[in-house]
Amino acid sequence: MARAKTVYRCTDCGAEAPKWMGWCTACEASGTLSEELATPAHAGRSFTALNRPSVPIPIAEAVGDATRPVPTGDDELDRVLGGGLVPGSVTVLGGEPGVGKSTLLLQALASIAAGAAARRAKHGDDGGPERRAACLYVTAEESARQVALRAERLGVSSPSLWLVAETSLPHVIAHIDDLAPEVVVVDSIQTVHDPELGSAPGSVGQVRGCAQRLVSEAKARGVSIVLVGHVTKEGGLAGPRVLEHLVDTVLAFDGERHHALRMLRAVKHRFGSTHELGLFEMGEAGLVGVPDPSALFLADRQPGVPGSVVAPVLDGQRPLLVEVQALVVPSNAPSPRRTAQGVDGGRLAQVLAVLDRHAELDLSRAEVHVAVAGGVRVLEPGADLAMALAVASSATGRPLSSHLVTCGEIGLGGELRQVHRTERRLAEAARLGFSRAVVPRSAPDAPAGMLLHRAASIADAVHHQAFQPAAV
Ligand code: TYD
Ligand code: MG
Repeated sequence: MARAKTVYRCTDCGAEAPKWMGWCTACEASGTLSEELATPAHAGRSFTALNRPSVPIPIAEAVGDATRPVPTGDDELDRVLGGGLVPGSVTVLGGEPGVGKSTLLLQALASIAAGAAARRAKHGDDGGPERRAACLYVTAEESARQVALRAERLGVSSPSLWLVAETSLPHVIAHIDDLAPEVVVVDSIQTVHDPELGSAPGSVGQVRGCAQRLVSEAKARGVSIVLVGHVTKEGGLAGPRVLEHLVDTVLAFDGERHHALRMLRAVKHRFGSTHELGLFEMGEAGLVGVPDPSALFLADRQPGVPGSVVAPVLDGQRPLLVEVQALVVPSNAPSPRRTAQGVDGGRLAQVLAVLDRHAELDLSRAEVHVAVAGGVRVLEPGADLAMALAVASSATGRPLSSHLVTCGEIGLGGELRQVHRTERRLAEAARLGFSRAVVPRSAPDAPAGMLLHRAASIADAVHHQAFQPAAV
């Protein structure tokens, strides 16, 4: 019997090579080529969408309802998607195992199904005896029973939400044919396989081939498809990077393992901005949107404690008030510990060096710990000044006013620089009742009810402004 033809494919970029090499000639990644069965020549031709020739139309006709997003009913998800799911679009939801991808999508489908049922009822359509689903959840990872148990916990029981446990792609497509849903979730893209493709389930060729096929089906039928994608340890989507190029939208869902907070961001979005942040809390009843995150992050703050500063930071377009905490304790170790949780360790080292050189704050014989409360990660330079003031406050034992916020970038020369959208940040602080702010000299005017302390340098900020009596 003739040996099946195999090719080597890069697990990173998806490029094909006829023989094994130590690196990929397309993207130059090393050790990423893996062997798989060559795709039979007829496989590509079976796509229904490819069989029909496209019909050109005037662009004015194409601009219309078809590209308008349909709200999912989940406010945080809709915020990130720029309104909802666009019919005919394909979205990948990536995230680490256990972060809550299946929960998020089950809840979103339940909400879409409930909306669809309400619309049908309004139009006097009782659903009829025929098989019709507004949403279809394809579980290729867990059993139908496991998903049903989760649905029960979440109180999901809409008759328009259908569930099927299936791993074979042709069967998945047959179910889509049969039920004609508006939205389909495939959980996950790494666990479905297409026998026509030949290569092993889970291989790069399979992930890419199945995604390609689902993209054509979505476009041909106008159904929105959401694919769950596993991420690698480095945070990228497992499987070829081409998956990201194939789909319209890539969402990243993440959060600290020991915190309830979950963040949803668009990494790529063909229909809108990638600057929106969705926030959820994972609890007993599943994921609950957090409409006022600043109030949540500051709820347990203890005013009057040295080392605590509130900073208005920006995640995408969303201003968040977070508490930056520092603890400075004497140490005899030759190189005392520095820990950074929720802030970048490199940035902290830089801030400490600037404090030492330009604000005469010698921390060479002290352990320094800096953390952002509540499981938030702040990686933007706007939190520099808050880190510096928190460290200085803990080192000197003098608390800052509990009505004070601060934001600004610290330059290596000790100068303070304005960060973008300072106005919006201060407005959010004023909304939550903060009445004083330490800001760089060039900052815009303060919102009503707020007093600004403008500082040109880190020395100014540390020695003159922020440590006024904490009486306000
Ligand atoms: P899951 O959606 O299965 O994550 P993923 O699909 O990303 O792997 O959610 C996993 C975690 O969420 C699990 O550890 C339990 C927790 N969880 C809750 O805390 N509350 C809930 O109501 C549900 C459904 C899950
Ligand atoms: Mg899951």
